[in-house]
Amino acid sequence: MWYNNGMKTLIAPSILSGNFANMGAEAESLAPAGADWVHIDVMDGIFVPNLTFGFKMISDLRPHSDLFFDVHLMIADPARYAERFVKAGADLVSFHLEAEKDINGTIDTIKRCGCKAGLAVNPDTDIDKIIPYLPKLDLVLVMSVFPGFGGQKFIDGSLERLRRAAELRDKYAPSALVEVDGGINAGNAVAAANAGADVLVAGNAVFGAADRRAAIKSLR
Ligand code: DX5
Ligand code: ZN
Repeated sequence: MWYNNGMKTLIAPSILSGNFANMGAEAESLAPAGADWVHIDVMDGIFVPNLTFGFKMISDLRPHSDLFFDVHLMIADPARYAERFVKAGADLVSFHLEAEKDINGTIDTIKRCGCKAGLAVNPDTDIDKIIPYLPKLDLVLVMSVFPGFGGQKFIDGSLERLRRAAELRDKYAPSALVEVDGGINAGNAVAAANAGADVLVAGNAVFGAADRRAAIKSLR
């Protein structure tokens, strides 16, 4: 489901915090728990100091959930691999502004394959760098931790960056969504949404909870 009328905050549990020996069941648990999207973190050990999985995880997970697959590429040279993630079943592919020279070309490639395109921005990158690409984007992914690991603390100052991202979105790409990723929990979710986040990614806050349904409800 793609949702952009601003009436509801979407919750996107990050399957990075799930049990990798049981990913099909982890994906299946999310729709009944009330999740809107599945956030899928791809790491290459080069752009970030951690390794996760590639296309095959996405194509193998696809039959286990009808939810929107929100694929977050934390990889070097995303242009080289973007199309294969779309073919594997991504509904949206985000890549990092810091990882790609040909940002316009990569957005075009993702969209030409019939997929939505997002641009992710690290906590120490000037948010205004997204301005030239906004008119083409479906989503801006504001990182509220340095990418690489789940379970980190929300960085102070991220709310200000969300406000700026939402302001730029309103000006240059009114139908795009703003997503926040990293350290989201029941204590800061409302503040993040009020600052402009339309989509909240949550790893540990959902997968670390005994009751995922209650955890997702408490994020809304
Ligand atoms: C960080 C990932 C995030 C992360 C979120 O590199 O992109 O999606 O797993 O997990 P939490 O909510 O635990 O910070
Ligand atoms: Zn992520």
